[in-house]
Amino acid sequence: MIDFKNEIAKVISNSNEQLKQDEVLSMIEIPPNSDMGDFAFPCFKLAKIFRKAPNLIASDITESFADSKLFEQIDVVGAYINFIIDKEIFAKSVIEEAIHESKNFGSTNLGEGKNVVVEFSSPNIAKPFHIGHIRTTVIGSALNNIYKFLGYNTIAVNHLGDYGTQFGKLIVAIKAWGDKTVIESNPIPELLKLYIKFHEEAEEKPELDDEARNWFRLLEDGNEEAKELWQWIRDVSLKEFNRVYEMLGIKFDSLAGESFYSDKMPKVLEKMRSENIITKSQGAEIVDLEPHGMPPALITKKDGSTLYITRDIAAAIYRKENYDFYKNIYVVGSQQNLHFNQWIKIIELMGFDWAKDCIHVPFGMVSLEEGTMSTRKGRVVFLEDVLKKAVEKTKEIIEEKSPHLEDKDNIAKQVGIGAVVFQELSNNRIKDYVFSWDRTLDFAGESGPYVQYTHARASSVLRKADVDYEKDVDYSLIQEKEAMDLIRLLNQFPQIIIDAARKYEPSIVTRYTVDLAQAFNKFYHDYSILVDDSEIKKARLSLVAAVRQTIENGLGLIGVAAPERM
Ligand code: ARG
Repeated sequence: MIDFKNEIAKVISNSNEQLKQDEVLSMIEIPPNSDMGDFAFPCFKLAKIFRKAPNLIASDITESFADSKLFEQIDVVGAYINFIIDKEIFAKSVIEEAIHESKNFGSTNLGEGKNVVVEFSSPNIAKPFHIGHIRTTVIGSALNNIYKFLGYNTIAVNHLGDYGTQFGKLIVAIKAWGDKTVIESNPIPELLKLYIKFHEEAEEKPELDDEARNWFRLLEDGNEEAKELWQWIRDVSLKEFNRVYEMLGIKFDSLAGESFYSDKMPKVLEKMRSENIITKSQGAEIVDLEPHGMPPALITKKDGSTLYITRDIAAAIYRKENYDFYKNIYVVGSQQNLHFNQWIKIIELMGFDWAKDCIHVPFGMVSLEEGTMSTRKGRVVFLEDVLKKAVEKTKEIIEEKSPHLEDKDNIAKQVGIGAVVFQELSNNRIKDYVFSWDRTLDFAGESGPYVQYTHARASSVLRKADVDYEKDVDYSLIQEKEAMDLIRLLNQFPQIIIDAARKYEPSIVTRYTVDLAQAFNKFYHDYSILVDDSEIKKARLSLVAAVRQTIENGLGLIGVAAPERM
């Protein structure tokens, strides 16, 4: 694909040695309205350098484009130079690239040779996998896809919450009141019941808490019985989580959770002590973070056991040693901002200059209409139920609207789950929101099903094509404003992905797919594609094929399927 922006920057910077190409490139704008041109170059800033009025500078620069064939028109409007790309060259460059690059259209090799760890999902085992987990799970997975598409070697990590005092509590509860067969028949709700019972009983009998602490210590010390029970809890929980991951089509490269770091802790503690950043406080060890405007971080408890934060420090060091990451990304809710600020600061205090490459990507909270979610109070919406209901509802709609559709069950899954994921990734990640069944199951408007339907519509037109639109296309036949709007959008796709990666914001891709679908539907509404004139038909079909491919690629990045029929 011709990089038009870069071509403009080249000519401008060649016209005068005081203008550096990179700088010029960063000054080029896309006008708010395409009637003004495809690109614009403002000359205000140059007035100082050239000691000349901006509009005169603009006219001078324009002369350097005399030999360029890329532009249909170049206008000076005030201090701006507006560029309109030659339509035929533009259409040919973009469409051919989209069709030939196919599933790779939009990708770049920006990240070649660089490793990026993307940690996401990371639920606590033995606890419900609920609607609150959907955000980290789908945002993280989308970021993982996006970075991979940009050529980075990504490592998707699920930092399972599979360690900590709560496992001491569970062990006590299972031993006292649990029945393995009952638990195995319905693991998470049963384990949750036991966990709740433990808390109720412990209010009367505080010695249960001591027992729980003791069991966790035994677990850390490698006691066989403790380890076996813990392993079993982990296995039955993972089985449940995996059902959801499978529905979402999400895979991890590593399931190294908190427990994985238990034997890596002593070395880390040693390093912290030798760097003199630890102080003793009533038998416990802390890092004083007051000089950095934060409360102290508790690193080991009185009994020597470690904490959530200690394991995060160990995990980051392990990842640096094993993956030599360029970036180590954590998709974790904004409630944990302080936690991340604390441990990343500690990594820095330990003398690791790569602390700056550890990036917390926070997101807003999900609450329920009846208040915040509370597993202990049983106020929780299971993620699996949400996905299942969305699929059921889609199935009903299909039965009603297109009962003869082939492969209905599969399409219902793709559309139902796609709708939930798409909605989740439509908004800026930092916004809080209240979960509502109605909204989740409402597929109208700028939704996943809308974009998927547009993809199916484009696929259907292409199926009906009786000409080869990949060969000898006369791109000069693509002239319509609506068509050029599409070409312009397609041309932006690679940059959209780069922006989404830089801002850790998959919603940029999601919203782009909506814009593209809307622009396509406008074109589709205003012009016939399968017209009698086979040259026009070929040209329009090539555009449809490029759009279809781009929608498929965009949806793929956010983890949504692109069915060919709906
Ligand atoms: N398991 C934690 C929770 O459910 C989230 C873990 C986030 N990741 C991390 N490296 N601390 O709250």
